[in-house]
Parts: sequence; structure tokens; C-alpha cells
Amino acid sequence: MSAATEDNKRKVTTHRLREMKERGEKISMLTAYDYSMASLIDEAGMDVILVGDSASNVMAGNITTLPMTLDQMIYHGTSVMKAVKRALVVVDMPFGSCSGNPEKSLDAAIRMMKETGADTLKIEGGEEVIQDIKKIINAGIPVMGHLGLMPQSINKYGTYTVRAKEEKEAEKLLRDALLLQEAGCYAIVLEKIPSSLAGELTQQLSIPTIGIGAGPDTDGQVLVMHDMLGINKGFSPKFLRRYADLHGVITQAVRNYISDVKSNDFPSEKESY
Ligand code: KIV
Repeated sequence: MSAATEDNKRKVTTHRLREMKERGEKISMLTAYDYSMASLIDEAGMDVILVGDSASNVMAGNITTLPMTLDQMIYHGTSVMKAVKRALVVVDMPFGSCSGNPEKSLDAAIRMMKETGADTLKIEGGEEVIQDIKKIINAGIPVMGHLGLMPQSINKYGTYTVRAKEEKEAEKLLRDALLLQEAGCYAIVLEKIPSSLAGELTQQLSIPTIGIGAGPDTDGQVLVMHDMLGINKGFSPKFLRRYADLHGVITQAVRNYISDVKSNDFPSEKESY
């Protein structure tokens, strides 16, 4: 086995993500919420698996990510961790679990790490939650930041449109990103911001940036698994590329099964004991 193949099989760490940024190798990241899909995604060679609180939308059918609880994220995180051998696993801290009370945030973060066995956590926000983030990192827990469109703050914004188009918001985003880096975050997700701003930030930061709707100049890309596999028909923002039409594949397979049951074609003699 070549050294490159050996290296590819090694567990991905936060340190390796930094090395990837330094040598200009793009970082791939995708969400997963359950054991079976996490196994497939890990075996395919994904660098980072995000147990996102988008589980609230795609798994639980909620309109926003706000209803997600710590217990529900622990359930998803535990299921994913049982499957993953190579990828770095990041679990989202849900709405309300890290919001300006560092002691309480640390308790929640420790519970998440102990009960899921996850490698790292992701927390939305900048200056407003910087003390929470510092407290968690000081306890030895690696944190990925998340700036730009922050779905947990949807009630503050009122819309899911592109963020930081105005200079004032772009300046705050830049300040927040530097604060997160100084606090010790190992990477930052940049969601739905202009490409030029994402590119500028990526140049300024020594830690990797992972974009979603942030253009090609970030150090990596992340998508929600249900969206890129075409399970969700109704969600088609400009930034989304669909790599499959699982909606069509699954619907047809289920229709075929119904038809076979109704016509008594299934099960056949060969499929019976
Ligand atoms: O919860 C999630 O899936 C996310 C991604 C959109 C980055 O935070």
C-alpha cells in the first residue's frame, strides 16, 4: 500500500484540517444524522461529517432549527459516532445551549462530548458567545465556529437571504472571525455570504473556512445531505448542486413495491420459506 493511500485511511483530526489548508487541499464536509448514512458517507471518504441541527428540518420536519434539544442532538450524534471510522465528526450545539452563560454552556458541551463520543462541536455566533466558546475550548473541547447566516437566529433576521452584503455587517463578520480564531476555534463555517468576503476572510485567517453558499474561495465546502442527494424536492437555493435524484429513485422503488404486493407478485416462491 502506498504512503498516500495509508495517509488517506488515517483518522481526520483538527490538526489535519489545518495542514490541508496550508497545502491548498480542499476540505469536504457533509451532514449525517443516523448510523446507516454516516457509514456510507464515511466509507466514501468524506473528511468531515457534521451532525447538524438541520436534523430539525430534514429529520424532524420542523420549519426552523430552534426546536432541537440537547437530548435530540445527543441521540443523532451517538448514532453517527457508532458508524464513523475515518471522518472528523462535529456535532452542532442546539439553540439555547450556548448563549451567554459560559458555565451552563460548558456543562452542555461536556454532556455532548461524553454521551456522543464526538470529536468536536460547532457553535453559531461571534462576539455574543465568545466567552462561552473560550470556556469550552479551555476545557479541551475543539470548537468549529459558524458565521454569516446563522439559522438559530432566524427570528432576529426574519429571512434566509444572503448576509453581510452591507459594509457594516461585513466588518462585524470579519471582527467575529478574528475573535473566534483568537479564542482557539479550529475552523469556521461561513454560510450564505458574498464570495468576495468569504475569499478575503479565508486569506486573512490561518484556520480553515468551510463555506455553504459562500463561493469557491473557502478552504472547504459543506452541504446538507438530504439537499445534495435530492431527497428534498422543495428546497433549491442557487448555491445547491444536486448529485442525485433520490426523491425520484425512492418514490419509484416504493411504487414498484406497492404494485408487486397488490398484484401478489411479491413474495415469489424463491422469496418464501
Ligand atoms: O445544521 C447544519 O446542517 C449546518 C450546515 C448548514 C452548515 O449548520
